[in-house]
Amino acid sequence: MSAILEIQGQVLSLRQATQADISAICRIERMAQPHPWSLKALEPEFTHPWSRFRLAVLRDPLGGEEIPVGYCLSWLLPSELHLLNVAVLPAYQRMGIGRKMLEDAIRIAREARVLEIFLEVRISNVAAIGLYRSFGFEQVGLRKKYYDKPIEDAWVFVLSMEPKG
Ligand SMILES: CC(C)(COP(=O)(O)OP(=O)(O)OC[C@H]1O[C@@H](n2cnc3c(N)ncnc32)[C@H](O)[C@@H]1OP(=O)(O)O)[C@@H](O)C(=O)NCCC(=O)NCCS
Repeated sequence: MSAILEIQGQVLSLRQATQADISAICRIERMAQPHPWSLKALEPEFTHPWSRFRLAVLRDPLGGEEIPVGYCLSWLLPSELHLLNVAVLPAYQRMGIGRKMLEDAIRIAREARVLEIFLEVRISNVAAIGLYRSFGFEQVGLRKKYYDKPIEDAWVFVLSMEPKG
């Protein structure tokens, strides 16, 4: 676990999430997402060998409890990293935590030498689309009525991991 960003005097780190973090992750989901993943949907992700479940935590540099503030879930598949979800507690949004989690996902993809990172995102999700575009993700498709509650289309975004030029 490495210290990567300072926020309000606290140090942000990313670490592997474990089953013990499930209630913190569900809380982040409920608070950050209009359409949160359920406990039932999240729990199996701890057992899949292809799941990469990362937790962003803040901690006072002098010690004390960690505060879970965000998480990122992806699937490491033979030729792609599929980014399933990224969420940050509303009180900590727009402070660079989403960016750090994306950097971490890109590191995972690079170390595994996969060719691309794929993801789907609701077409109305301006914040997430802004985050993905800022990393150079490109829109490559549209999945009609991909989401429910409410029904909405998804943009498919991809980031190529192949060296440019
Ligand atoms: C999407 C999300 C994870 C971004 O996390 P965050 O920690 O706030 O993002 P960052 O502070 O690292 O922002 C990085 C960049 O993303 C873009 N961005 C973030 N929030 C944005 C917003 N509300 N509007 C437009 N662009 C935004 C900007 O380019 C930003 O860089 P800048 O602040 O220098 O302009 C967060 O908004 C969130 O949890 N949303 C709810 C969950 C969700 O929709 N997840 C996506 C599922 S596909």
